[in-house]
This record gives sequence, structure tokens and C-alpha cells, in this order.
Amino acid sequence: MKGLILSGGKGTRLYPLTYTRAKQLIPVANKPVLVRVIEAIREAGVREVGIVVGPTAAEIKNSLGDGTQWDVALSYIHQASPDGLAHAVKISREFLGEDPFVMFLGDNVIEGGISSLIRDFTGNQWNSQIVLKEVDNPSAYGVAKMRPDGSIEQLVEKPKLPPSNLALVGIYMFDHHIFEAVSAIRPSARGEYEITDAIQWLIDHDYTVFPHIHRGWWIDTGKPTDMLDANSYVLEEITPCLHAAAAIDSDSSVDSRVTLQAGAQIVNSIVRGPTIIGENTLIENSYIGPFTSIYHGCQIRNCEIERSIILENSRVIDIDSTLRDSLIGRNASVKRSSSKPSGIKMNLGDHSTLWV
Ligand code: G1P
Repeated sequence: MKGLILSGGKGTRLYPLTYTRAKQLIPVANKPVLVRVIEAIREAGVREVGIVVGPTAAEIKNSLGDGTQWDVALSYIHQASPDGLAHAVKISREFLGEDPFVMFLGDNVIEGGISSLIRDFTGNQWNSQIVLKEVDNPSAYGVAKMRPDGSIEQLVEKPKLPPSNLALVGIYMFDHHIFEAVSAIRPSARGEYEITDAIQWLIDHDYTVFPHIHRGWWIDTGKPTDMLDANSYVLEEITPCLHAAAAIDSDSSVDSRVTLQAGAQIVNSIVRGPTIIGENTLIENSYIGPFTSIYHGCQIRNCEIERSIILENSRVIDIDSTLRDSLIGRNASVKRSSSKPSGIKMNLGDHSTLWV
């Protein structure tokens, strides 16, 4: 069994953060989503992993290297243009060979890992297994219709009239017959080679496709609200830990659901979990509420923050209102100014949003 992670794309719905960073490298609970995907694949016993990369290839390679850190062997496969998920499979043929493989979209976060899925697939003679999840807005996804025997009858990509409320989660398992399918299909109306069409081709040619219905949470981290939701779910899941090289002074109160990473410093502050405070981050005279992830090298002074993600080396200082449901990028500053004339002053990046 091999692994294939798709990590191309520009992440336009996460502008401005993704002007300067691959969306799959944005951390959730202080760990990049892509690293969570690699760990899930590794936990399922898969060690040979290919990553399909696009315009952000250099940054992804720079962050992940050859995979030794996660005990996997990573190979990079270049997708010259964003021609769709089925096209990504097609160009990965040489890496995948005749082995069955699990394909994981590098921006998906799922509860509970994928070990049981891989066991299901390897224990059956199916040509493909897909993962489905009941959702309220199926039109935003690939949607499946099942036969009474539990196999898949039909798959449609983002249908206006969905045949069910079962969305395709971005995790798929295939045997080598998928290569016939990805070579046979034509581009969709949006100009992409769709993996849903390739799986439909398998069904139409009498190959067996069975689903696993996922009951836990699942987030496709396309938009800022998805990042905040994924962050909340993952923070609830991780086992809290206070690093030996973190410090809490006697005027602070930090509850048992808080993780402090090496060099985190809590001074005269209240921190309520589930929350994670990154390496060498200082929290002073502040309140940090549940579902907050503050990454490495930040300074938070005289403010209150809840249910937010703050990326590395940012500063939030002397803010009167509670900062809530916010996503703040790297090296950002949010400060109070006492200079006259008073008013709100900002240097916002393109595609930024500020709610006042
Ligand atoms: C892709 C697939 C879609 C699937 C979704 C899951 O959509 O085409 O079938 O439901 O991933 O994340 P995209 O995110 O490319 O719009």
C-alpha cells in the first residue's frame, strides 16, 4: 500500500494568508494540516508516500524534506497546471506502480485517523473504497448515491440537485484499475479531470466501489471559518501537555486542558483550554480562552483572545475588546495607538477582512 497526498492549488479562499504560504502548511492546533495528513497515513502503516505539488512546491519541500522526521519516504510529483484530482492520479502512475494506494487531499482534517479504512479496503476485494459523510450542504461536494447492497451506484461532482446528503470526503482508496479510468475520462464543465468522474467510470465498467460512512467530524479546510472549526475539533482531541521548558508564574492560572510548548511563558494571565501556546510565546496580563492556538514566537500582552488562530511571530498588544473567531497571519501586529487624531488605522493585506 502506498500513499498519495494532493497538495497543489493556490488556496484562494484563504487569501491573504495563502499569498505567502501554501494553505496545507497553515497550522491547526500548532501543527500544519499537511503534517497531520502524513501522520494519519503513517499511523495506518503506510510508509511510501507521494506528494503532488503545484505552485507552492518549493515551500512544501522545504518544510517536509524527505519525510524522515515522520518515518516515511516522501517523493514529490509535480503537477504543472491545476487540471484536477484525476489528473494528479494520472501523473503519479510511475510512483504508484501496481500497488493499491490511499489518496488523501492535503487540506482535509478527519477525526480518528484512517487505519480502520485501510484495514477494510485491504480485507476486501474492492477496486475502490471511498469515504462518505452526511452533510447539510451536499451541493458543495462530490455526492454519492448508494445501491441497496451498499455499493456505490452514482457519483456527481457539486450537483445542483444532490441525489443524497452523502458527501465525498477527500480520502479514497484505489487499486491499479483507476489508471484506466483517469485515462478514459474527459474534462468536466469546470475544465478539470474529476476524480468523481473517474470513480463513476469504474462503476460503469463493473468494478466494485464501496463506501465507508464516516461518523466523526471532518473538515475540508477551504475557508477561514473551516480553519477555526478544525482547530477547535483538534484541540479537543489532543492530550494536553506542559513542556518542561515552559513557565507559568504564580500570578497565573492555567487549566488542565492547556498545552504549553517549549519556552512558552505565562505571566499574570488566565489560560483556559482546550488551547495551545507555541514555543517561546509570551502571554502577559491577558486572558486566553478555549479553542485558541497561538503559534511560536508570539507576544500577547494586555488583551483577551478566544477561539482564534494566531501564526508565528505575531504581536497582539493592549487591545480593549476581546479578539474572537480571528485568524491572524505571520509577523502581524495588532496594537493600540494613543496618537492623535484618534481612529482606526490599518495596513491590511489584499483580500483581508476587518470587522469593527
Ligand atoms: C474535492 C472533490 C469533491 C470532494 C472534496 C472533499 O473538491 O472534487 O468531490 O467532496 O474535494 O474535500 P474541491 O475541494 O476540489 O472543490
